[in-house]
Amino acid sequence: MPTATPAAPHALEPRHVKFDWRHTPVQWLPGDAFATHTINVLHLLFPAGELWFCRVYNKVLPMVTDPQVRADAKGFMRQEALHARSHEGVLKHYCQTHGIDTQPFTDKIDHLFKHFLGEQPFGWKIGHTRFWIRQQLGTIAALEHFFGYLGNWVLNARGLDEAQADPVMLDLLRWHGAEEVEHRMVAYTLFKHMGGNYLERILHMLLVMVILLYLIHQGNRFMMQADPQRPPRRSFLLSWRRSAQAGRLPRLGHVIAAAARYFGPRFTPGDEGDTAQALAYLASSPAASAAQHGGSYRAH
Ligand SMILES: [Fe+2]
Ligand SMILES: [Fe+2]
Repeated sequence: MPTATPAAPHALEPRHVKFDWRHTPVQWLPGDAFATHTINVLHLLFPAGELWFCRVYNKVLPMVTDPQVRADAKGFMRQEALHARSHEGVLKHYCQTHGIDTQPFTDKIDHLFKHFLGEQPFGWKIGHTRFWIRQQLGTIAALEHFFGYLGNWVLNARGLDEAQADPVMLDLLRWHGAEEVEHRMVAYTLFKHMGGNYLERILHMLLVMVILLYLIHQGNRFMMQADPQRPPRRSFLLSWRRSAQAGRLPRLGHVIAAAARYFGPRFTPGDEGDTAQALAYLASSPAASAAQHGGSYRAH
């Protein structure tokens, strides 16, 4: 993995992208249905999750007193909104083309973000309180730490290239991953700006770790069952280990170690990932160039 380079201050701008999903096979990682559908869980989570980020940030913006933090939060929102829309495109086109109805699963995710983490958790009308806003911002910061880690992983995951992953799907993952690396400081800085403390940080990460691992496990099962090619189901942990050894998933131990780094008192997201590498990818993303020229990125 490359050495971390800090982000030189620059304005966060979304890069418009356009993907054509017509030729992406259901198992877009040939020969590895398990890794295909583990990564596919991200498409189930991001549309609802990242739009929830935007709703929370919209609510918080008028309370932000530092102009730089506010500008970064606005850039972050614009990037996240586009990420959500692009993953929604995967659900609409790739999943539909292959006859996979994701609604039973995405309905549950919508419920999680709209109710449990929304404005009236368990019916309590606390959405406007500084306490609840801090808990929402802290949850976003913990999630963003994971996404920054995953973004850095996907940019460097040679195993995906060696497996001849579908180039359109790989570009979506790397374009999104690169913007996650680029904006990795924003959520953590805003959480601290709004008074987030160390104890809350620990609690949010513990909660996020448990929920995320649970949803990835459940989502993988859902997608494996929905796959029209009916791949055989084997032990979750053994399958993960096999895919990780081939570099098609991050090693579980590394994911847990990344979460543990968040507990360090001197933790800063700036130490994770390489901004120069992320910007270089964004400058060469095929879907970004296709959108600039009025087309969509398709592999064939
Ligand atoms: Fe994102
Ligand atoms: Fe993000």
